[in-house]
Amino acid sequence: MKALIRSIGAYIPKNKMTNDAISKIVDTSDEWIVSHTGIKNRYFAADDQANSDLAIEAAKQAIERAKISPEDLELIIVATATGDYKGFPSVACILQEKLGALNAGAFDLAAACTGFVYALEVAKNFIESGHFQNILVVASEKMSSIMNWEDRNTCVLFGDGAAAAVVSRAQEADDDSAIIYSFLRSDGSGADALSIPAGGSRNPIDLERTKKEDLYVYMDGRRVYNFAVKAFTDIIKHICDKCGISLDEVDYIVPHQANIRIIEAAAKRLKQPMEKFYINIDEYANTSAATIPIALNEMQEKGMLKKGNLVLTAGFGGGLTYGGNLIRW
Ligand code: ACO
Repeated sequence: MKALIRSIGAYIPKNKMTNDAISKIVDTSDEWIVSHTGIKNRYFAADDQANSDLAIEAAKQAIERAKISPEDLELIIVATATGDYKGFPSVACILQEKLGALNAGAFDLAAACTGFVYALEVAKNFIESGHFQNILVVASEKMSSIMNWEDRNTCVLFGDGAAAAVVSRAQEADDDSAIIYSFLRSDGSGADALSIPAGGSRNPIDLERTKKEDLYVYMDGRRVYNFAVKAFTDIIKHICDKCGISLDEVDYIVPHQANIRIIEAAAKRLKQPMEKFYINIDEYANTSAATIPIALNEMQEKGMLKKGNLVLTAGFGGGLTYGGNLIRW
């Protein structure tokens, strides 16, 4: 029994913010942001739009494209680090109600920017075990809700967005299409390199003592950069070795869109042309767990993804977590 991505959808919120607009808020410039990250724009949710409001739009599109009804879903997994609420209720449960997915279990998955890669592997296993036939995998982030607008080191990097995939049991007519293999790893020794320092059980909010900046994303950029370049190459080499394929057989590498320089460094190490890597960080910035499925959706809509194509995803992020999926489209 095989699992495949039956359909994909995405939602990008409306408020576009250029680097020049960010330069009016913090001491930065379009030149610095483009040259250090490759980012030109990002989109932000409206104040009254929570994570699930982005997720629902992506989910509806994926469900419609899969030609199934919400009642056909048996599980909803939402990869996110920016839920509507802290801890619970999960975005997945809010989505379950909004969709009318009356037969679905629902939970959120916390693997930061690697969330979609992890969630796809979880869904794959539930399908392959024969337990479920249709699972909705969503990656949705409202990064603007955890960004410190006084910290130029981080606030220039992120955007909001959501994407969703219906993962289903493959039928005979699907030929070789499948999620073939996933590689999942973590390195908790780097937990402090990327975190929201306060507000959890380690450091609960104390209205008198908690520092405002500790409620937002903290990142040791250099440490994360070094980790990401190594993780990226490890993922790709491991998947190729394990699956007995050469990188030349892979049609597209779809990387987490954190920084164009991370992708360029990995391409150089892997001796691969940049054309093989799908890149849209210039337009959407880093939408955390959502970058990879937003890219897949865009590739699909552009007609780039043909049946039979071999696609390799590579994600890395807070935790630290990293991993990738090999997908026969
Ligand atoms: N505008 C202008 N100057 C800035 C800005 C900014 N937005 N941000 C930092 N600087 C300054 C710094 O203050 C520093 O100045 P100084 O030398 O006077 O102290 C200078 O630029 C260089 O700072 P570095 O941190 O060395 O800059 P670097 O070239 O490493 O780029 C960056 C920083 C882009 C964050 C990089 O380290 C990086 O990409 N790290 C990877 C982490 C990442 O991509 N995270 C995304 C989220 S996590 C994830 O998705 C995995």
